[in-house]
Amino acid sequence: MPSTLSRPDAPPAAVKHGLAAAEACRPQRPDWTIDQGWERYTAQEHAVWKTLFERQMKLLPGRACDEFVQGMRELPIGADEIPDFRRLSDALMRRTGWQVVAVPGLVPDDVFFEHLAHRRFPAGHFIRKPHELDYLEEPDVFHDVFGHVPMLMNPVIADYIQAYGEGGLRAHRLGQLTRLARVYWYTVEFGLLRQKDGLRIYGAGIASSSTESMFALDSASPNRIGFELERVMRTRYRIDDFQESYFVIDDLEQLLELARIDFAPLYEKQSGAAELCPGDVLDTDLVITRGNGSWHAGRAQGALK
Ligand SMILES: [Fe+2]
Repeated sequence: MPSTLSRPDAPPAAVKHGLAAAEACRPQRPDWTIDQGWERYTAQEHAVWKTLFERQMKLLPGRACDEFVQGMRELPIGADEIPDFRRLSDALMRRTGWQVVAVPGLVPDDVFFEHLAHRRFPAGHFIRKPHELDYLEEPDVFHDVFGHVPMLMNPVIADYIQAYGEGGLRAHRLGQLTRLARVYWYTVEFGLLRQKDGLRIYGAGIASSSTESMFALDSASPNRIGFELERVMRTRYRIDDFQESYFVIDDLEQLLELARIDFAPLYEKQSGAAELCPGDVLDTDLVITRGNGSWHAGRAQGALK
């Protein structure tokens, strides 16, 4: 669950699940969707989108993975206005069978997973305030659309996130959401990918954050470790600061293998396993970069999941 950020240099924390929205926010429809109300966005709201869009589009060449860049290119997304979910859904539907549906903010876990399992991506319809460009209490339209939707144009990611939704419904029933949510966090939200020309971003939490786009790839502080499923399932994560460790996949097909795994025996196997702190490095890790931890040294320990 994202928490309030107080430092101006802190990254926006965002993940699209974890805690139910307040009951007062519950919309009329049982699936929590609402109309995007595109026509009601103000000029100021479109201007916030433009500021964020242009900032990220300057940063991401050479940082975002090829699939992200390709997806962005083929979507009806531009700097001048907040995208219309109907047009995004038309493009997505043609390519991977996904849609973007508007929600008022965070939705309950089971509702979130139900949407993903049916290839519907729930996106916050609101946008952050002009004086809070790097501040997010809940994922807004910039995080959800700019960060997530380009990757949903990729057939492998499209299948992976649907499988995650199905797995989430099962994990919810088994009381094992914490471990599964870590896999989502360290892939869909904060994943790095190894390309021929170096490490690239594919996670939406990084791609939609100017500060974390630089930190994740350039800083000497975090660890960058080869992705290993059971290791990641044990690893707690930061929800109110940059990550202390990023996990690196060799290609997107690695995620598709994950989508085929039956997690139930892994939950059983891990029931007594020790949890790992976000910055831990193990002897068995495939370490790509051993971080010096300088960013988090001396900081008060923030919230962990
Ligand atoms: Fe997200």
